[in-house]
Amino acid sequence: MKTRIFFSLVTLLLLLSVGCQTVSTSVPPTETAVPPLPNPTNTIDPIPTLNTQAFAANQNLGRGVNLGNALEAPSEGAWGLYLQEQYFADIAAAGFDHVRVPIRWSAYADLEPPYTIKPRIFKRIDWVIEQAFAHNLAVVINVHHFEAIMQQPETQAERLAGIWRQIAAHYQDYPNDLYFEILNEPQDNLNSEVWNKIFPQALAAIRETNPERYVIIGPDTWNNVNRLNTLTLPADDRRLIVTFHYYSPHEFTHQDTPSSSTTWGTEADVSALQADFDAALAWSTAEQRPLYIGEFGVHATVPEPSRALWLSTVRAEAEKRGFSWAVWDFGTDFGIYTLHNRKWKDPLLKALIPES
Ligand code: BGC
Repeated sequence: MKTRIFFSLVTLLLLLSVGCQTVSTSVPPTETAVPPLPNPTNTIDPIPTLNTQAFAANQNLGRGVNLGNALEAPSEGAWGLYLQEQYFADIAAAGFDHVRVPIRWSAYADLEPPYTIKPRIFKRIDWVIEQAFAHNLAVVINVHHFEAIMQQPETQAERLAGIWRQIAAHYQDYPNDLYFEILNEPQDNLNSEVWNKIFPQALAAIRETNPERYVIIGPDTWNNVNRLNTLTLPADDRRLIVTFHYYSPHEFTHQDTPSSSTTWGTEADVSALQADFDAALAWSTAEQRPLYIGEFGVHATVPEPSRALWLSTVRAEAEKRGFSWAVWDFGTDFGIYTLHNRKWKDPLLKALIPES
């Protein structure tokens, strides 16, 4: 596409310069007869224009929350969260812009081509998206906990594409506030080399029916921030948003017993976070790809003031650099909201939405 644009640009400039020469030899130049030659440095290149749109689409995601441990559980409710209408109202009222909805599509899809997805999961996801839109929230849907592809990526690649072909066809007429994320946290045997071969098949299946939808994709090693530079993205698809997950330092965010006591918040801790995000921003600027932190969070057993400090620091450093984000998670083990009384954990909500 770049080459085609370059050639049409060259052709246009040639035509204009030939035109000008013709004009200048046959007609005395007047201000009205000879339009000024476009300044080549000002010519509009459609690729940066589309990049601007992708950055805008990422800003549209803004601040989000993961409806984690609901629809990626073996059955909804089994891991502590069954989605209800009032949650969407509370999320919107708190000031969030979007929800990320992890979904275990692979559990509802046949094992053989064309990998038919059961209508009942579509019905449920239709409802989720409808609720989000009704409350003015954008929605990210992904393929989550597709464990087989992590172990046997080559044999499951076609299934991932087949699953996306159906999801994409089903939602093709939905507005652009619906975003598709190809696969949560590629890991194990799904290393960067294999991932770079596999995701284009799923992306192509999406593009058959959704040429304009924004699609989110992240690197291997559990969407690790330090692996962004292993992603090989198609240069002519400018409707991509790149994601990474951030749980660093893991020994702080993933303490799941009250007796553990790793703390966070020294100058060195903050510098390490800034260094990670600076490197990510440098990659984003060089590649002209917007960045979305699809997950970041601290386990609920960590004392609340420490959780709030880490969450507010990550959030602020992300926003300084223009990254959109979704906290992990809404109401379960990393939660910021208590389900039984429908109350936010206020210090955590303030850390994320300071105006709340
Ligand atoms: C996983 C969750 C986990 C969270 C934090 C997510 O990607 O799906 O099960 O709790 O990361 O580790």
